[in-house]
Amino acid sequence: MKNITTKEVTTQAFDDQKPGTSGLRKKVTQFQQVGYLENFVQAVFNTIAPCAGKSLVLGGDGRFYNREAIQVIIRMAIANGFSHILVGKGGILSTPAASCVIRKHQTCGGIILSASHNPGGPDEDFGIKFNGENGGPAPEKLTDEIFQQTLSITHYQTIDAEDVELDQLGTLQIAQTQIEIIDPVIDYADLMESMFDFDAMKSLFKQGDFQLCFDAMHAVNGPYAKEILERRLGAPAGTVINGVPLTDFGGGHPDPNLVHAHELVNLLHGEDALDFGAASDGDGDRNMVLGKNFYINPCDSLAILTANADCIPAYSKGISGVARSMPTSRAVDRVATAMNIPCYETPTGWKFFGNLLDAGKITLCGEESFGTGSDHVREKDGLWAVLFWLNLIAVKKQPVSNIVRNHWAKYGRDYFTRHDYEAVDSGDAQEMIRQLKEKIPSLPGQIFSGSQSAGLTIESADDFQYIDPVDNSKTTEQGVRVYLNNGGRIVFRLSGTGTQGATLRVYLDCYQNNPDLFEQDTQEALSELIQVADTLAGIKRFTGREKPDVIT
Ligand code: G1P
Ligand code: ZN
Repeated sequence: MKNITTKEVTTQAFDDQKPGTSGLRKKVTQFQQVGYLENFVQAVFNTIAPCAGKSLVLGGDGRFYNREAIQVIIRMAIANGFSHILVGKGGILSTPAASCVIRKHQTCGGIILSASHNPGGPDEDFGIKFNGENGGPAPEKLTDEIFQQTLSITHYQTIDAEDVELDQLGTLQIAQTQIEIIDPVIDYADLMESMFDFDAMKSLFKQGDFQLCFDAMHAVNGPYAKEILERRLGAPAGTVINGVPLTDFGGGHPDPNLVHAHELVNLLHGEDALDFGAASDGDGDRNMVLGKNFYINPCDSLAILTANADCIPAYSKGISGVARSMPTSRAVDRVATAMNIPCYETPTGWKFFGNLLDAGKITLCGEESFGTGSDHVREKDGLWAVLFWLNLIAVKKQPVSNIVRNHWAKYGRDYFTRHDYEAVDSGDAQEMIRQLKEKIPSLPGQIFSGSQSAGLTIESADDFQYIDPVDNSKTTEQGVRVYLNNGGRIVFRLSGTGTQGATLRVYLDCYQNNPDLFEQDTQEALSELIQVADTLAGIKRFTGREKPDVIT
């Protein structure tokens, strides 16, 4: 990069750059339109301006178009005057690692390139989001400003320069900007080592009778998991499977759930099943944990981690409070009540936890969508959750299933499932939600006859809204909640991350405190609610589907 000329490029605004639940996600082909990526990046820079003198973190989950986008953003960041850009080697940074690096190096924020658990490849998804100086996703106020900027943008700034070598650690000075290619793993791995009892966990592997598999799903967490599990904790080589990040995630769907992580699920099933299995998603912030022939629902996982936080060095002094997204089951609420700490119910999306974490009101938080985290970063953190579980297993010297069953015995069990109807016609999905909202005032008192338990009645219903207790910002229309008199709840909402049509999410949960009924199949335990959900909203009628596309 010798001849540095900053240039202002005239551009046409796009009207579809409103960030969703987690940044801007579109098909790669949309991002490849002339000026599309540049407009959004310039909108971010305009929003956080002045950029001169500031530092920026940059990295992504390695999916198709990641490397090209990194080069575009580096050129624009130089033209916009940043003094320092920290780029993960190879353009790689997991979402939690990016959050960690922003915080550790006290930058003004970072740009993360990811479409999370959505598939990657030339015809698949790409995404971009901005995280602020606390390391967390930009709050709605900021994403709204970015969106406004995208609507009126007329030009962006860049430089004429060659691509930067991304695969070599080191620093490079271009004009006023120092570009530092950093090891994407080390800061994060050091943070994990400072939080957990690595000696106790090492002893699990030393004895040689504990068998673990971590499925990185060909996504970003492979190098992180290999460093931490295999190198630092001494798990045998090969513990991490699908550990090399691929641009198309091996053609798979990098979403750690029972449907998509089937290779792992098979290893945890049957007579010679392993003791513990875990997987994470495209950008490393989601997790699924499995015991021997045992699935742990993410809502239960959050509750169990909260109840046992004192086993972990980082939380041994206690936790200040917890939060869960609204559709997440109320299992953690019961633990919070017993521990006498506050429990907050926030809208879907990690950005709503940021203020609570910054203000010290909560220490742990989570979502039903395989997301769990704490105040160590400002993103959910897949590998952190896995290490938390491993630490628990090492300290308690019990198999996963016992830890979970003991939890149910103490607190009762919250059965939970989510039914997703994907790529539904947007108009139909919106009309379904509109009609449902219209019915809300008349729902309380409605009785469902012909159901298994006579007289299942709606106690209350509303359209969820949230007032942030820290800055009083108000967020409305976050999903329709219906509470029933059997301890059950149904939530209907439309996804904010899908890139094709609409995705309808129906969340169903029900509390059970009769120990004789703790071992039911979840879909059976919730079958009555599932029927009620269809009767209430006309799911089959509006979606034209007989059953959900994905059940988690
Ligand atoms: C989904 C999840 C949500 C999560 C988000 C980003 O958003 O439901 O909990 O925070 O992905 O990982 P949705 O598509 O439902 O808007
Ligand atoms: Zn993710």
